[in-house]
Amino acid sequence: MSPQRTVAVLVGSLRKASFSRKVAKALAAVAPDNLHLEIVEIGQLPPYNEDEETAAPPAAWVAFRDQVRGADAVLFVTPEYNRSVPGFLKNAIDVGSRPYGKSVWSGKPGAVVSVSPGALGAFGANHHLRQSLVFLDVPAMQQPEAYIGGAAGLFDEAGTLTNDATRTFPDQVHGRLRRLDRGQSQGLIMQNQATDPAAWPALSYETLKDTCETLQLWTQVVGKVRLAQTPWLNHSWHVPLYVTARGLTTSLVPHPAGAFDLEFDFVDEVLRLRTSNGAAAGTPLEPQRPQASTTA
Ligand SMILES: Cc1cc2nc3c(=O)[nH]c(=O)nc-3n(C[C@H](O)[C@H](O)[C@H](O)COP(=O)(O)O)c2cc1C
Repeated sequence: MSPQRTVAVLVGSLRKASFSRKVAKALAAVAPDNLHLEIVEIGQLPPYNEDEETAAPPAAWVAFRDQVRGADAVLFVTPEYNRSVPGFLKNAIDVGSRPYGKSVWSGKPGAVVSVSPGALGAFGANHHLRQSLVFLDVPAMQQPEAYIGGAAGLFDEAGTLTNDATRTFPDQVHGRLRRLDRGQSQGLIMQNQATDPAAWPALSYETLKDTCETLQLWTQVVGKVRLAQTPWLNHSWHVPLYVTARGLTTSLVPHPAGAFDLEFDFVDEVLRLRTSNGAAAGTPLEPQRPQASTTA
């Protein structure tokens, strides 16, 4: 199994009913086993004042810096205040960046999710924040871009995501964050993989043994589903997988409720189901625990 990774989550809202916090919690709730998303509270941090950067700085600053330093990555989930991020989130960023030369942000992989009840999905906040991340040397995830608009209509009473399109989003984010497991923080910002020699490293069976075995089992499951759904005609027993820009896919599989295909998306590490009537779902590509038996 891949090692356990911790992602420090900074939420840019103090509001009890904050949509941003609901998004952060929804992402944490569906994180794969090896990815632990932990909200680091930042509302209590005293405003940054360089005069207090003494041998004994405020305890809350020290605790915050330690928490971020100990995390493998950082995820910002923020609303937009006047086309930027709320002041206390910027304060947390400033606190973490000092004392000079000891920034907790340097080289730490990051991702930004911006949230707004408005239509623009807090685009301004998202990119204003990214400006600081460039300076702070935080390699920030570029895709999927995450501008969550119309946030007021995305959750039910319990704070669960109810919107179909948005429900697949956590899978995509986690798929990208899981690249940390391969020690590829730079993979988060790699854009030209097709032309970059580093995109074709030597493969080690020892390192990839688990992935190989898992994939073999997953492809068997998909093949059997395909076989079971296809009318028994000449050659229907061939169940090839076709190469796509993101991995491998079945061809269209017939089904009484609407045809579907199943794509192994190795970029986001998700098995995607898409149906001809527009529905979509995804499940992380990772070993599954056996379900407890319910039969006596
Ligand atoms: C001071 C202030 C400034 C705001 N500016 C913007 C803005 O620039 N763009 C926007 O989409 N929403 C803006 N809003 C509305 C917020 O998006 C909205 O209050 C949102 O629910 C806050 O996020 P939360 O639900 O996570 O607390 C602003 C709200 C406040 C209080």
